[in-house]
Amino acid sequence: MATERTLSIIKPDAVAKNAIGEIIARFEKAGLQVVAAKMLQLSEEKAGGFYAEHKERPFFKDLVGFMTSGPVVVQVLEGNDAIAKNRDLMGATNPKEAAPGTIRADFAETIDANAVHGSDSSASAEREIAYFFSADEICPR
Ligand code: PPS
Repeated sequence: MATERTLSIIKPDAVAKNAIGEIIARFEKAGLQVVAAKMLQLSEEKAGGFYAEHKERPFFKDLVGFMTSGPVVVQVLEGNDAIAKNRDLMGATNPKEAAPGTIRADFAETIDANAVHGSDSSASAEREIAYFFSADEICPR
């Protein structure tokens, strides 16, 4: 298993529920380390740029509206198989289809407010981490 980094975002719905600590505890208990973190209020431009690949999708405007509706917590998670591990912890995009015990099953109600984001590939992880963090903001242990 390779040591990887992935970008995680705790979305505005989960921040509003005061679930930041519980969600990060799940990452840590699964063996992932938080090597960078910050809380941000995303602008429309920053959120739109992050989701640029979905620009033509019918839900794009709602997605940007939701991601700018309140603060988010962005983190870089590091560990063995971090990308797949994080996606397993998150559960399916639609919380109604998410396996019991996953973050989305426990903290999200709808597909448009689904508690967390996680990079879906190593190429995405590299791009997404660089979108939010400079090299000197990442502190491997
Ligand atoms: S894809 O094609 O597999 O990449 O798309 P998907 O993973 O299903 O969704 C990409 C992101 O869009 C969000 N999404 C939505 N937002 C609002 N409304 C609707 N209907 C909707 N459907 C999908 C979804 O939560 C994904 O966000 P991230 O942050 O990547 O998990």
